[in-house]
Amino acid sequence: MNWLPLCHLNDLIDNAGVCAKVKDLQVALFKFQIDGEAQYFATGNWDPIGEANVMSRGILGSLQEELVVASPLYKQHYSLKTGQCLEDESKQIPVYPVRVVGEQLEIQA
Ligand code: FES
Repeated sequence: MNWLPLCHLNDLIDNAGVCAKVKDLQVALFKFQIDGEAQYFATGNWDPIGEANVMSRGILGSLQEELVVASPLYKQHYSLKTGQCLEDESKQIPVYPVRVVGEQLEIQA
């Protein structure tokens, strides 16, 4: 899969998400400040339990040593690395590789 330029790093918000459209996908982008260093994650925006495009409004945190995003609707936690729901093993959200090139965030989706 190709890397697609997605946005400028300044378009992102510390410790919060923004929504972006990639092809026909709604993607939630997160900038997580950990020990003074920014880490970037991309997941699907669709919450499979709340059944709405809201993951970019989720709350970032860590739980069971995983970096997670909590759905803003019913608060289930999803691993930012694997997309696995920590409360319901039958639920996942897609995760997409991202990388920083200069001042741009790129995604594989
Ligand atoms: S995130 Fe859209 S109404 Fe709450």
